[in-house]
Amino acid sequence: MKTKWSILLLFMGIPCMTSAWNYPVFGTSNVLDLPALLVQHANGDQTLALYTAAVETDTAAQYTDKVYVLRDSLYPVEVRLCYRSYTAYAMWEMWMEISHQEKKPILLKRFDSGHFTIPQGNVWMTHFHGDWAAEGTPTESKLERGTISIQNTDGTRNAHVDAPSVVFALDGPLEEYHGRTVAATLCWSGNYELRCNTTNDGQHHFYAGISPQASEYVLSPKETFITPHLAVAYSESGMNECSRIFHRWARETGRINHPSMPRPILLNSWEGIYFDITEERMIAMIDDIADMGGELFVMDDGWFGGKYARNTDNAALGDWKVDTRKLPNGLQPLIDHAHARGIRFGIWIEPEFTNTLSELFEQHPDWVLRVHGRKLRLGRGDTQLVLDMTNPKVQDFVFNIVDNLITTYPDIAYIKWDANTSLENYGSPYLPKDKQSNLYIAYHQGLQKTLQRIRAKYPDVIIQNCASGGGRANYGLMPYFDEMWVSDNNDALQRLFIWWTASYFFPANTLAQHVGGSPYHMTGRNLPIKFRCDVAMFGRMGLELNSRHMSQDEQVQCAQAIQDYKQIRPLVQQGNLYRLVSPYADKHTMSLMFVNDQQTEAVLYGFRTDFLKQQYIEKVRLKGLDADKTYRLEELDVVGKKRAPIVLSGKTLMEEGIDLPLYSDFASVVYKISIEK
Ligand code: DGJ
Repeated sequence: MKTKWSILLLFMGIPCMTSAWNYPVFGTSNVLDLPALLVQHANGDQTLALYTAAVETDTAAQYTDKVYVLRDSLYPVEVRLCYRSYTAYAMWEMWMEISHQEKKPILLKRFDSGHFTIPQGNVWMTHFHGDWAAEGTPTESKLERGTISIQNTDGTRNAHVDAPSVVFALDGPLEEYHGRTVAATLCWSGNYELRCNTTNDGQHHFYAGISPQASEYVLSPKETFITPHLAVAYSESGMNECSRIFHRWARETGRINHPSMPRPILLNSWEGIYFDITEERMIAMIDDIADMGGELFVMDDGWFGGKYARNTDNAALGDWKVDTRKLPNGLQPLIDHAHARGIRFGIWIEPEFTNTLSELFEQHPDWVLRVHGRKLRLGRGDTQLVLDMTNPKVQDFVFNIVDNLITTYPDIAYIKWDANTSLENYGSPYLPKDKQSNLYIAYHQGLQKTLQRIRAKYPDVIIQNCASGGGRANYGLMPYFDEMWVSDNNDALQRLFIWWTASYFFPANTLAQHVGGSPYHMTGRNLPIKFRCDVAMFGRMGLELNSRHMSQDEQVQCAQAIQDYKQIRPLVQQGNLYRLVSPYADKHTMSLMFVNDQQTEAVLYGFRTDFLKQQYIEKVRLKGLDADKTYRLEELDVVGKKRAPIVLSGKTLMEEGIDLPLYSDFASVVYKISIEK
């Protein structure tokens, strides 16, 4: 298998141990190639002529790094092209490091992390278009001649409109279990551009990097600019294997926090009561999640404010003190009550932002991004502004938000870190005039630096990455977080779709799935409580509704789901994912399963997405089991009488499949699978 990867790599121009680097530079590469690197020297010259000065190889436990040290023949510019190749699975990372010793700064006008070529053929490209509340819609087309550009220009988030990931299917449209497949994601949280240039000879040249739009980087002498890593997985058997490689890589190489820690089952207050926080309501919600068997409670937006109250989304960001009009006794009684009920406590913050209606903005108007002489462009609530994360004082302020909270309340176990506004005022009061075009990048460098400080001091706290839902679903930020809020669209039916592509790159323990209310506030849809619970059970399970408005039946079903989820939590959060029936395939169902490494335990899910009489539903063929073993399938999350268990061989389950009992609109089923004794 390894040999095959190497052959593929050579084919794609990803250097192996013997081949040369493959990275078009402006000035001396073929003029018809789009450049991956374009630099303007201090004297105005825009060309580079690089030669290989050295090749360095470094082997670590999990990977081998190969670095091409390139120098310009005329200018003191050094480019290090870095390629990391993993030993245990078909995964690579590539990035570029550039530095110089010219007398004055040089300008990086294009600085891609990586470039590779896919040979001509029946190649299809999928990218993940979307919007707020509709993240990650797979959009696929056959690559024809010409250039495709996938980009995001939000500035603070980068996964709503289009995510920084693409998949190439080399043998026709993308399939889950067939075909040579290359999946790539840029590990960056800011603006990016992914380009695919199909030339006249049918070769597909892929480039990925930070977007240079309004973002040409001024590089001072002796400074080293390191691009984000481009992570690439390869499979000869479709998307599913690429996903399992990504999941393993994320867990084994520090791309997510606490990769093997069981994630707690929680209730979040947001969609239940929004800003209407009171001590009584918080205590009631803590009691409710405790009664249903949960483990953590998160008090969302609305708990803070001084001069300005946070009663809606237009005020008080930055004024991170408890609003004593809502919580007269502060946070401690809530935390104490939670602990008395065996529940851990979590809290929402949105640290990188403020509102025009805030004490912070009144005191530090120069801490927000703004263009001198221009009217402020306002975000959420028509008042929200982005803090200048390039400014070390602002970085300290953001660090202190977390530091003050946890030093004052050491029992805070969970933080939800939100980001709800785009970077719309393109100006930093902190950066010098001649470095304003560094802003888009320096913002994220400042954010990462701050998160590194937070993680160094608070390695244990669980932190959720939220950005109006899944706006920051990227591996640039995930190394500092445990999980993400996949979408603000928490309608369980839509969540089947949104989760499907989120799981292409991110493991299930990072994907927060919450039982929402019905009818759902965004779609008006009524969904059975069992369906909503079953959907939450294939991610990091939680609830997000007004627990006081739940019927007795809903409470009983949720308690059952929580109890059963505890049994399967290691499988969901650590197991191998097999997506079985895509909700995008118009087969009226969606199905997936997780299997443990030993192939002795698994969990299978099935959902009816629409129902008409006489609709034909295919049997679902399971995956990842041992053909020679006999398995027992027992229903989970059932209140009352369960169906009789199914006992079949792994071979039958995988080759013939089974009929899922999905006989009505929004029917759903969860089977715990174990070895038949
Ligand atoms: C956007 C998030 O995605 C929601 O879950 C919630 O936390 C709100 N912000 C709060 O303002």
